[in-house]
Amino acid sequence: MLSATIPLIFLAACGSARTSASAPLASQSTGDAVANRFVDSVLATLSIEEKVGQLTMSPAEGLQTGPTVPRGSSAQVRAGLLGSVIGVQGAERTRTMQRIAVEESPHKIPLLFSLDVIHGFRTVFPVPLAEAASFDPELAQANARIAAMEATANGITWNYAPMVDIARDSRWGRIVESSGEDPYLGSIMAAARVRGFQGTRLSDASSLLATAKHFAAYGAVESGRDYANAELSERSFYEIYLPPFQSAIDAGAGSVMASFSSINGSPPHASAWLLRNVLRKQMHFDGLVVSDWAGIVELVPHGVARDTADAGTIALRAGVEVDMADGVYPASLARLARTDAAARAEVDEAVRHVLLAKYKLGLFTNPYHGANEATAARVTLSAEHLASARVAARESMVLLKNDGATLPLSRSIGTLAVIGALAADDTSAMGPWSVSGHPGESATVLAGLARANLSMKVRFAAGALPAGQDTSGVAAAVALARDADAVVLVLGESGNRTGEAESRAALELPPAQLELAKRVARAASGKPLVALLMNGRALAIPWLADSVPAILETWYLGTTHGDAIADVLFGAYAPSGKLPITFPRATGQMPIYYAHRNTGRPFDPKDKYTTRYNDLALTPLFPFGHGLSYTTFAYGDVRVAKSTMRASDSVAVSVAVTNTGKRDGDEVVQLYLRDDVASVARPVRQLVRFRRVHLAAGASETVSFTLGAGDLAFYDLGMRRIVEPGTFTLFAGTSSDATREASFTVIGDTLGMSPAPPRMR
Ligand code: BGC
Repeated sequence: MLSATIPLIFLAACGSARTSASAPLASQSTGDAVANRFVDSVLATLSIEEKVGQLTMSPAEGLQTGPTVPRGSSAQVRAGLLGSVIGVQGAERTRTMQRIAVEESPHKIPLLFSLDVIHGFRTVFPVPLAEAASFDPELAQANARIAAMEATANGITWNYAPMVDIARDSRWGRIVESSGEDPYLGSIMAAARVRGFQGTRLSDASSLLATAKHFAAYGAVESGRDYANAELSERSFYEIYLPPFQSAIDAGAGSVMASFSSINGSPPHASAWLLRNVLRKQMHFDGLVVSDWAGIVELVPHGVARDTADAGTIALRAGVEVDMADGVYPASLARLARTDAAARAEVDEAVRHVLLAKYKLGLFTNPYHGANEATAARVTLSAEHLASARVAARESMVLLKNDGATLPLSRSIGTLAVIGALAADDTSAMGPWSVSGHPGESATVLAGLARANLSMKVRFAAGALPAGQDTSGVAAAVALARDADAVVLVLGESGNRTGEAESRAALELPPAQLELAKRVARAASGKPLVALLMNGRALAIPWLADSVPAILETWYLGTTHGDAIADVLFGAYAPSGKLPITFPRATGQMPIYYAHRNTGRPFDPKDKYTTRYNDLALTPLFPFGHGLSYTTFAYGDVRVAKSTMRASDSVAVSVAVTNTGKRDGDEVVQLYLRDDVASVARPVRQLVRFRRVHLAAGASETVSFTLGAGDLAFYDLGMRRIVEPGTFTLFAGTSSDATREASFTVIGDTLGMSPAPPRMR
């Protein structure tokens, strides 16, 4: 049902997932006249070379770079030709460098020390995808806070997280750094992490400047190939990929990193449309824009710049402000700015943003910020941090299957066989992007079991490596399984086979691991058999799903990986995580996500001419939001406070959930919405709210949510964000397959939420 009249009530500009963010830190500070006056006064004293220096970031010695990249040297700092560094960490090292900047350089401008603190610093938390599986934003915020405390004590002031890319194709290795496929979950997690990193005030010694990355639509790269082009519609861009960035910006994220992929042929590092029109004007971002590593120089191979100098000019024009490790700006911008007034103004604007970031961090008054050896010693890997990491690790696991209550395992087993090389792999336990973590400090599955005070014998056989063809160890693993009372098979992919530049063409278990699993399962027939998965993406595991009674998705859980797994295996904790990505039956289903649009011929098993594969079921192996517990939950009817409402009204929705099992547990109550008829086909359902609740055995709770126009809106054919009248169906339950439903009707006129955003270029 459509209406031609669109009243000019323009509400939120972009993004459906508005969180209860406190007032944005960045805009408060930027709007601060004192800050601006101060920054302008510093700017006025700088030569063009010194200004370009502020836009230059150099890598620490030892970081892997191309041969032409200049290193951050004391001489450069002393000359006032460096604004920031990447990769220098440690209170003493950073203080030494900062002392040169603020005592010996001409204008005494402090440096920014940047690093990737992706999922913890020395205390390593679950990888972001795993943390998203907790559906617990308070937890994500607390983890980010701890990471910020440890990182700042070690001299870091600028963090390259959170990664807020939506990713729907697990072939892309960087899905592990994301919150998965859903814009709403992604937006909530983005805001939580920004708040955690930045704290209540950026000038607090334990606050880190957060970076929302990679702007934008990096997760949509074609075929899951890292660095590739993303070919996508304007509607998907605004509706799916931008909301988490808006959420991060609304939460005050101080910087944004450009993506080094491209969108419809236009690399973000070269796109003024993206960085100026969309990011600055449409999304009201007033912080700092940083390039990705070598993102400027790569404009040449992208085919949009003739040479590196041309790349520098294009990137500056586009709105890239800090050159991360390319060495392009220091080599070319000063010359350009001398002859080109527009470039001079652009350089000034960029330097202003760098200086404002430094000002907001309080570096002009306390250049050392949190860097302090004693604090570092006190907070790093503190008992409190490790305890939080363990809570996070427990909440992040997803019990995919548990036939016959195989899990939890009995503590009175005589011998437990643990099979699979990953069980002893401490580097993988930490997961990728554990830049400051130490592998020796993370508990493997075996270490966790050893520490769990179990009276049983634990025997280990590697069986097969996660990659490769070698099956020579399988026989020994089979023998171990035959002699054991219960078997835990640890399967998946090494931590270093996920993350950047780790795209995969096959999500299936490699042949050697599959053979190991099959032969061990045969040997363990009749005994409790559990598959523990360690991976950073959705895997296609149809054989395991059919043949192994219990499957626990453990991802990479960080420092307390093995301890938390032992907690779940033996029932000290009942699993509560939910999948933030859809698990496919085969790689060929990629990209697969629950919030797809319907077709004109929805699948009908009796009708060949409906949407289908002729060689595979259409449905996923495990849907988004799926995750079991050791207890069970039942849902009551979905109640909607009113059956009709105007588009600008809000509506209360509630559902009762009861713990029907015998033990206490957490459930993530999920609410999905479908706009039944609209001028543009809407997703079959989309997540609009969720809440994690703890319920004692037998207890019930009525969970209430309020929905408003922002939840109902979409981009129409003219790309205006509107709410159209008509019926909406709600689904509440334990996964995206939730079947309890109710509906309400929006009456009256179409509501205009915002005019069309900048058209794609
Ligand atoms: C990655 C970024 C990261 C940067 C600095 C790049 O290769 O794409 O996500 O922040 O390196 O380490």
